[in-house]
Amino acid sequence: MSVDVVSPPRADSGASAGVPQLSIISPAYNERANIRPLVAAVAAAMGGTRWELIVVDDDSPDGTAEEVFAIAGEGYPVRCIRRIGRRGLASAVVEGALAANAAVIAVIDADLQHDEKLLPTMLALIAAGDSDLVVGSRHVDGGGVGDWSKDRQAMSSFATWCANLALGTGISDPMSGFFAIRRDVFHASVHDLSQQGYKILLDIISSAPHALRITEIPYVFRNRVEGESKVDLMIMLEFLFLLIEKVTRGLIPPRFVLFSAVGGIGLVAHVAVLQALKSFGSTFLVAQTAATAVAMTLNYVINNSVTYRSQRLRGRRFVIGYFIFCLVCSIGTLANIGVADLVLADEGNWALAGVAGALMSAVFNFGVATQFVWSQ
Ligand code: GDD
Ligand code: MN
Repeated sequence: MSVDVVSPPRADSGASAGVPQLSIISPAYNERANIRPLVAAVAAAMGGTRWELIVVDDDSPDGTAEEVFAIAGEGYPVRCIRRIGRRGLASAVVEGALAANAAVIAVIDADLQHDEKLLPTMLALIAAGDSDLVVGSRHVDGGGVGDWSKDRQAMSSFATWCANLALGTGISDPMSGFFAIRRDVFHASVHDLSQQGYKILLDIISSAPHALRITEIPYVFRNRVEGESKVDLMIMLEFLFLLIEKVTRGLIPPRFVLFSAVGGIGLVAHVAVLQALKSFGSTFLVAQTAATAVAMTLNYVINNSVTYRSQRLRGRRFVIGYFIFCLVCSIGTLANIGVADLVLADEGNWALAGVAGALMSAVFNFGVATQFVWSQ
């Protein structure tokens, strides 16, 4: 058996002996072309400060992880957490931050849109002891959004306004994805994080058990040169759900809202199929069975690609999941009828009984499906 001798880390790369002073977390999906410039820029910005870079990759098809491995092989203090079967910026950041070795954690996008030259300042401000969290802000003097279109600017301002109205963060750029935080402060709220969508900073601030001492420093959001943004309609919806979850103190899980909305779509489909088959002269039993099958299938497909898209099932697991989902819904229907019947006997009100039954099956289906169908 032969043992390869690995050459010692480059002295100038930040990997010199000892625990890093700053752990830099970078979520990355399809950012292969940006990884090398990112590492070079971070290494240059950090100078003699000991740092590590943890790239959290969600199994990007473009080979982002392999690029990180290659750069690590060159002696840079870089590693990759590669997640399989999961997607999501916020949860990627959380996973990376949990692996941080340093007492201070920074989060920076992998696509070079954030200004890595601010990293040492962020670290210094936290090390000075007056700040728990330092936020790179585009909305304080000296900051800016670069070449964003008017539409994207308006959307961002509106979202910031909503976030501050709902959660009162008191900062100018709660939507920023560029910040540094004390590791112990992060760990203090990590169990309460929603981890949905993009807005991990907002999530951290609104989940903290005590008000955080926050300092904002300006930066100008750069334009993306390589690759493309992953923001889509779903990400905006997830932002709304994050607000709902935080405002209701976790009482309403955002996924439940989505799951119920999808259930509503299923109901509309059910009635439509029922009516259609009736007009073709079908018996009620056949029409009802077909309508139920269509509604259940539709619910499953939409939930799989929307509600649970961060753990979407594919291939064989999609088929198995489908059967379990149908089973869960059938039991949910029994629970629905049982509860509705009880309420009806008690209150004598059809509408009330109907709503109670529907709510019962929604809660049941949601709980059991989350546990047994999309359990990852
Ligand atoms: N691991 C992982 N998984 N990374 C992801 C995912 C995902 O599902 N989605 C996006 N990322 C990574 C991208 O590869 C990129 O490095 C970073 O997260 C930001 O994603 P973009 O899609 O480029 O977002 P953006 O530029 O529109 O917005 C970013 O900057 C804003 C300003 O700070 C985000 O960080 C926003 O939250 C932020 O407001
Ligand atoms: Mn970006």
